[in-house]
Amino acid sequence: MNNLVILISGTGSNMAAIVRAAERERWAERLGARVAAVISNRPGAKGLDFARERGMATAVVDHKAFDGREAFDAALMRAIDVHQPALVVLAGFMRILTPGFVAHYAGRLVNIHPSLLPAFPGLHTHQRALDEGCKLAGATVHRVTAELDHGEILAQAAVPVLPGDTADTLAARVLTQEHLIYPQAVAYLLSKK
Ligand code: GAR
Repeated sequence: MNNLVILISGTGSNMAAIVRAAERERWAERLGARVAAVISNRPGAKGLDFARERGMATAVVDHKAFDGREAFDAALMRAIDVHQPALVVLAGFMRILTPGFVAHYAGRLVNIHPSLLPAFPGLHTHQRALDEGCKLAGATVHRVTAELDHGEILAQAAVPVLPGDTADTLAARVLTQEHLIYPQAVAYLLSKK
């Protein structure tokens, strides 16, 4: 069985979309894959409730409890590797990862970013797209490399920027597309395992 470990920091709606797709599309039978665990760096992350309600394995590795990124990433790796993951899926995981962490999961680490990369890596993507007068915005699923929000692009979805949009209304429109492309991209990667 190919295990997925999903890392979250907050709401976890992308994680939930992947879990629901795995159930609906019977990934266990079709792809020999299952979501083995959901891990958060924030104890209060709302997405943990969704996972717990479904009886899924969850863990918290609170970044505030560690002295620096190296120590946090080492603890995070230990929590992940218990599940021997074929794929580690970053779903709204808001920590910058060390090169050692990225190297450890080379070929097994994917992220979703709320912009049409290579435009707008980093934070505040929707406000920056509005400030630039972009007519299209979107999201990108990409492999993770040591450089923030770089790495091979696996899937993208674009949405229109509409008159009167705020960062919040644009984010909501983009998020509905994230929920479609992330499960598809993950299933595609699993089909190659
Ligand atoms: C999503 O829009 C995701 O693309 C973004 O955070 C949101 C998480 O939502 N990720 C990043 O900004 C990563 N740099 P979710 O917790 O509901 O999935």
